[in-house]
Amino acid sequence: MRVRQLLLQSQRGFASAASKRTSLSIGLIPADGIGREVIPAARRVIEAVIPNKVRLEFVDLAAGFELFTKTGVALPEETIRVCRDGGVDGALFGSVSSPSHKVAGYASPIVALRKKLDLYANVRPVVSVSPNSNIDMVIVRENTECLVCRIFSFTSLRAKAMFIKYIKSESIENNADGTRTAYATRKISETASRRIATMAFNIALARGAARPSNSPLPLVTVVHKSNVLSITDGLFREVCHDVWNTGKDGEFKKLARMDEQLVDSMVYRLFREPHKFDVCVAPNLYGDIISDGAAALVGSLGVVASTNVGDNFCVGEPVHGSAPDIAGKGISNPIAAVRSAGMLLSYLGFNEEASKIDIAVNKVLLGDKNLLTPDLGGHGKTDGVTNAIIKLL
Ligand code: NAI
Ligand code: MG
Repeated sequence: MRVRQLLLQSQRGFASAASKRTSLSIGLIPADGIGREVIPAARRVIEAVIPNKVRLEFVDLAAGFELFTKTGVALPEETIRVCRDGGVDGALFGSVSSPSHKVAGYASPIVALRKKLDLYANVRPVVSVSPNSNIDMVIVRENTECLVCRIFSFTSLRAKAMFIKYIKSESIENNADGTRTAYATRKISETASRRIATMAFNIALARGAARPSNSPLPLVTVVHKSNVLSITDGLFREVCHDVWNTGKDGEFKKLARMDEQLVDSMVYRLFREPHKFDVCVAPNLYGDIISDGAAALVGSLGVVASTNVGDNFCVGEPVHGSAPDIAGKGISNPIAAVRSAGMLLSYLGFNEEASKIDIAVNKVLLGDKNLLTPDLGGHGKTDGVTNAIIKLL
C-alpha cells in the first residue's frame, strides 16, 4: 500500500506532510453550468472519505457569470476574504461561463481569484488508467501572467481610500479606413517564471523519488516559442534553464533531466508519443492549451483535475469549463472534480484519503463502461458515477 500510495501521490504532483488536523473547512465555489453538478458530487465524496473524528465543514461561496448578470459582481469581496483570511483551509471551484465577447465590467472570477490569492501554479496531472496506455504526466501551468491576466494597479484616492484600477492588457483602435486593429500585451516576469520552474522541478524530484531506483531520472520539458517570441518566451526559457542549473543547491540538475519543446511541435509530440512526457512546465496560455489537448488523450476533459497552488492556499478545480452543451442534463462527468478534491485533500495532508479517492476512481473507470457518463462512451449519470466511487471508498 505504501509504494502504491507514494506512486499515486507522485501522479497527483505533490503532497504535504500527513495532517494532524482535527477539523477541516472547505470553501465550495460551484459558479456556473456543470460546476453546480460536479462540485456537489465532489463534496459527497469528501464527506464519505474524511474520517468521522475530523470535524468537517463546508462553506458555500459565490462567484460566476450568472452572479455577475444579477449583481454586477463576478467575484464578491466576501469570497476572496474567506479564502484569503483563513475562513477556510482550502477551496474547490467548479467552472465559470465566461462569454466569448466583451461584456463591460466583467472579468473571469477564477482568473481574478488565482491572482488575488497568488495561486501561481496550476498543477494538472494527466494520467491514463487503461492497461493499453501509459500516459502519466503533470502539466505545470503558470497561473498569474502571460496573455491571460489583466494588470492591476493601486491608486490612492484623496490619500485615504485605495481602489483597484483594471488596466486592460488588450486594446482596440479604429483605423482611418473604418476597420479596427486589436492589440494584446503579454507579461512574462523573471519572478513568476522562477517560481513556476521551481515548482515543476520539485514535482519532478517527488516523482523521481517514488519510482524504482533503476528508473531514468525524471524529465522536465520546458514549453515555449522562443524562436519567435524571443524576449518573453526567451526570458521564460532562460529562467527555467537557470533553475535547473542552479536550483536547490544543485539538486535539480543532479536528480532531474530537462529538455525543451517549441509549443507547436509539443502539440504534435503530445499526440504521437504522450507516454514520453513526465513533467511539462509552460507559461499560462500554452499550459491551458496543451492541457485540454492532453485531456483528449486520456478519454475526456471530464476526468482531468487540477489545483491552483500558492504558498499558502490551494483551490482544486476541474480543468474543464461550464459545458453549456450538457449543463442541467445530469450527465456531466464528476471525475475531474472528484480528483481535484483528492488533490486538495493531498495538499492539506490527507494523503491516505486522497489515495483512496484515486483508487476508487480508477476502479470505476476500468469497471462497467455503461455506468460511465456519455463523454466516456457510457450511458451513466453524474449521480451514478458518484455513488459508484463512494461505494468503493
Ligand atoms: P468546456 O470545457 O466547458 O467543454 C468542452 C467540451 O467538453 C464540451 O463538449 C463539454 O460537454 C465537454 N465536457 C467538459 N467537461 C465535461 C464533463 N465534466 N463531463 C462531460 N463532458 C464534459 O469548454 P468550452 O465549451 O470551450 O467552454 C464553455 C464555457 O466554459 C465558456 O464560457 C468558457 O469560458 C468556460 N470555461 C471556464 C473555465 C473555468 O472555469 N476554469 C475553463 C474553460 C472554459
Ligand atoms: Mg482550459
